[in-house]
Amino acid sequence: MKYLVTGYNGQLGYDIVRELKNRGVADSDIFPTDVADMDITDRDAVMEKVTSIKPDVIFHNAAWTNVDGAEDNKELCEKVNYIGAKNMADAAREVGAKIVYISTDYVFDGTKEGMYEVDDKTNPLSVYGLTKFQGEEAVRSYPNHFIVRISWVFGINGKNFIRTMLKLSESRDSLNVVCDQIGSPTYTVDLSRLLVDMVATDKYGTYHANNEGFCSWAEFAKYIFDSSNISMEVNPIPTSSYPQKATRPLNSKLSKKSLDDAGFSRLPSWEDAVLRYKQELINEDKEEAKILIKHRKDV
Ligand SMILES: NC(=O)c1ccc[n+]([C@@H]2O[C@H](COP(=O)([O-])OP(=O)(O)OC[C@H]3O[C@@H](n4cnc5c(N)ncnc54)[C@H](OP(=O)(O)O)[C@@H]3O)[C@@H](O)[C@H]2O)c1
Repeated sequence: MKYLVTGYNGQLGYDIVRELKNRGVADSDIFPTDVADMDITDRDAVMEKVTSIKPDVIFHNAAWTNVDGAEDNKELCEKVNYIGAKNMADAAREVGAKIVYISTDYVFDGTKEGMYEVDDKTNPLSVYGLTKFQGEEAVRSYPNHFIVRISWVFGINGKNFIRTMLKLSESRDSLNVVCDQIGSPTYTVDLSRLLVDMVATDKYGTYHANNEGFCSWAEFAKYIFDSSNISMEVNPIPTSSYPQKATRPLNSKLSKKSLDDAGFSRLPSWEDAVLRYKQELINEDKEEAKILIKHRKDV
């Protein structure tokens, strides 16, 4: 089996490649790509690359992920998230590969009471959410797809909320954090395991797959500090007091029913994922490791 991975320089692509290697897939059967190897907006380049490799599976992670920056760069964002996804889906069709497309909770408007099911009405509030949904639709038109919606991502190969919070603890002893957006973090290590399991099946369709349990950003932040023995006052504030260019959904609770129905295992709890991620930062000797170790010594 040959696997092509887009967005290798990002958080998820990097961990999918690690997961494939951990499972014993030979390096020669893994094709990690990023913009320098294959710009997904360049249809000819995508077709040429994919038809020369002829992968059995395409993990399509590459995206424009700057949610606020997208509001002022609609055309560019659409090109990457919609046209890029369409190019990847067309190339998958050309070679008969399965395709995994990673999408987002931001396809919903967050006004529903309770959890979002995979087939609930979408209504993106932002350019990013809209273009990711257009990408979904392009991929959905090719039958051999897995569309997997995730949220609040953290992984070793990139910037994320946990790393930002840890860094801020060096200069601040109190922080205002939004408390009325409710969702679930996603650890790319856990997600990668599920995605590699998924592509070994023909259980195509749309799934929600973030870590178990729900929290607000303020609760997420508080857990990061408390579990690291870092003294920090987290002041919960409403979204209305924290203006951002892009509007985010308040309710991002995603139901895992389709995952359960297909017999796939859910991801571990988000709290457990945070603890393992912090250990990974230490093991990989990332910048934040010093902060974590310093506070660990204080215990
Ligand atoms: N991050 C989140 O909180 C979040 C939440 C929900 C869903 N998602 C989705 O999850 C997926 C993975 O997210 P992530 O956090 O791993 O993203 P990431 O770290 O921002 O990585 C995205 C990757 O895509 C690459 N890329 C951008 N434009 C490209 C192009 N034209 N051609 C080829 N590659 C290009 C980027 O390369 P450069 O860095 O070189 O530009 C980067 O390596 C994305 O599809 C995203 O929409 C993310």
